[in-house]
Amino acid sequence: MAIEDTVTVKTQHLSLCCLLMLIILSACGDSIEQDKLLNSVKKAEPGPALSKARWYRDEQLLRGETLYLTHCAKCHQADSSGTINWNIPDEQGRYPPPPLNGTAHTWHHSLDVLRRTVKRGGIPLGGWMPGFADQLDDQQIDDILAWIQSQWSDEVYKIWQTRNMHSMNDAMKTK
Ligand code: HEC
Repeated sequence: MAIEDTVTVKTQHLSLCCLLMLIILSACGDSIEQDKLLNSVKKAEPGPALSKARWYRDEQLLRGETLYLTHCAKCHQADSSGTINWNIPDEQGRYPPPPLNGTAHTWHHSLDVLRRTVKRGGIPLGGWMPGFADQLDDQQIDDILAWIQSQWSDEVYKIWQTRNMHSMNDAMKTK
């Protein structure tokens, strides 16, 4: 065997070894990455930890859900999904009840505007949602809004929070 041939065989052998090592190493790496991913998914599950980063307290959610089901669900649906074609008006130009679950327009409004909408309803703005000022007090309205916002994804909540930092800070003060 010529010297060059021996060198080639050795190099091939070496690169095969390297390749095997790489595969083994990356397989190990994968399972570590997967563990990390699984842990972070477990941590991201909604619950007390999640609502700590939001303006409301956990105990508001149960009260809010009951009030929501009593006063709002008949128009906005029990799961707050509202109407699919919420931005298409009917023949009389009336818009149907929109989703409140973060998929439509609701996250454009500050907490103050949301409170006012529930209190006064949509009639002063040319809509037809009734106002609830004579049926719900401020605490009850906040509980309902807390429950509604608990339906929002973290992404939507964060965008809302950034847009409405001012009224958010006020809400934290009165918490
Ligand atoms: C009789 C049906 C009806 C009831 C009951 C009702 N809504 Fe509405 N809601 C509407 C309609 C319709 C609109 C769209 C604006 C309008 O026409 O007034 C609306 C709009 C809203 C908006 C503004 C959403 C946006 O994306 O701008 C919020 C917030 C809201 N409702 C919350 C509530 C809450 C909270 C309750 C219960 C306390 C409630 N609604 C009860 C029909 C209703």
